Amino acid sequence: MSLDAVLSRIDTDLPAATDRLIELLRIPSISTDPAYKAECERAADWLVEDLKSIGVDAEKRPTPGHPMVVGHVDGPGPHILFYGHYDVQPVDPLNLWDREPFDPAIEETPKGKVIRGRGAADDKGQLMTFIEACRAWKAEHGSLPCKITFFLEGEEESGSPSLVPFMKENAEELTSELALICDTGLFQSKTPAIMTMLRGLLGEEVTITGPSKDLHSGMYGGIAMNPARVLTRILGKLFDDDGRIQVPELYEGVPELTPEIKAQWEGLGFDDKAFLGDVGLSIPAGEKDVTPLEMIWARPTAEINGIWSGYTGEGFKTVLPSEAHAKISFRLVGTQDPEAIRKNFRAWLEAQVPADCKVTWTDHSCSPASQMETTHPAFEAARKALSDEWPDPAAYAGCGGSIPIAGYFKKILGMDAMLVGWGKDDDQIHSPNEKYDLESFHKGTRSWARILAAMSA
Ligand code: BES
Ligand code: ZN
Repeated sequence: MSLDAVLSRIDTDLPAATDRLIELLRIPSISTDPAYKAECERAADWLVEDLKSIGVDAEKRPTPGHPMVVGHVDGPGPHILFYGHYDVQPVDPLNLWDREPFDPAIEETPKGKVIRGRGAADDKGQLMTFIEACRAWKAEHGSLPCKITFFLEGEEESGSPSLVPFMKENAEELTSELALICDTGLFQSKTPAIMTMLRGLLGEEVTITGPSKDLHSGMYGGIAMNPARVLTRILGKLFDDDGRIQVPELYEGVPELTPEIKAQWEGLGFDDKAFLGDVGLSIPAGEKDVTPLEMIWARPTAEINGIWSGYTGEGFKTVLPSEAHAKISFRLVGTQDPEAIRKNFRAWLEAQVPADCKVTWTDHSCSPASQMETTHPAFEAARKALSDEWPDPAAYAGCGGSIPIAGYFKKILGMDAMLVGWGKDDDQIHSPNEKYDLESFHKGTRSWARILAAMSA
């Protein structure tokens, strides 16, 4: 079956494909905020209808949280599963957006055309590249080149609470030869990359309570312990001067890189000056004697994602707050055990809290790192297919972010997963003014057509 015809169909259909993506982007499917529950349903319904329009037997499947979209379509080639997520991150701070986050549009920028709006890159634009490739294939040839199961989730951005039970309950239906995941990016915004390592994630929220109520800092300051002082003093000790995290046993399970991987990564020519320069920085902040790329792909981190206490509004208030809070996350690598780190972190922090302050915890995300197996012949086939589409040959790469499902495919369904995606470093995912380059959308769709052709060959 001719690939060229599919590729030119993708080229001529680009404006219509963009319109479809814009329609999906108009639905504010923010999974973490219960106020948007109906919108998540609406996004799932939209995808079911769109999949049906290309001949996929698709339906919305309920979970205790937001629904999954599952679809099947037959084809001659191998049975593959495609995973993407239709939920998006909250939009705050809204005042930093240059347009309404759910009023998406094509914008001209000095670097070319972009589709601007929440979810454009993470992950609606990306998941639509695969669906658009299938649409073009179907239009050109009347059927698809592979047997495909579509598996679209609506809770990825809030830690996928329904995912594992759903995968277990529907194991037989979901199991196929290989999973394709489109939720990552190009290396240095230009080199197509197959991700072989993803970091895990552990999220913790701590509240330290001091006095039983907010106090006047003149009346009580000096005699009453301030919980913000307790919290900042402890968090100030999270790293030593060499950038090492001080939680006991945290580095257990952090592997040394093999000389082969080190050499391969060295060969990628990562430009950390440009990477940091794009965000107004210049000095890598990780451990001493660790290369910049290893800091993102192969080392654990601890990040304070949010910290608040006392009065943070306009003007000034001489308050001695009753509570101090922080949200802290750890990115994990190798075989680091999220539960052990949770336990050790809590013990480490609690041991430093004065006797008359109280600590309470809320647990958030928890998933180990994953290492992808790349021996399935589809990997080399995809690498070649990608190298035909992009100016640079495709590379195997690490990924600093976390996609817990990548590991679950192996653990629960015994399947390998191949992670490719078309995002760029400046897409501002999770941030104001998120965008997806029209080039990512267009060449991403073409790339999937090439990968499908290569896999069915
Ligand atoms: N698409 C991202 C993962 C990602 C981030 C890939 C950066 C490449 C670069 C995904 O939607 C995501 O944001 N995942 C969360 C994890 C989740 C458990 C909240 C993350 O990495 O923070
Ligand atoms: Zn995300």
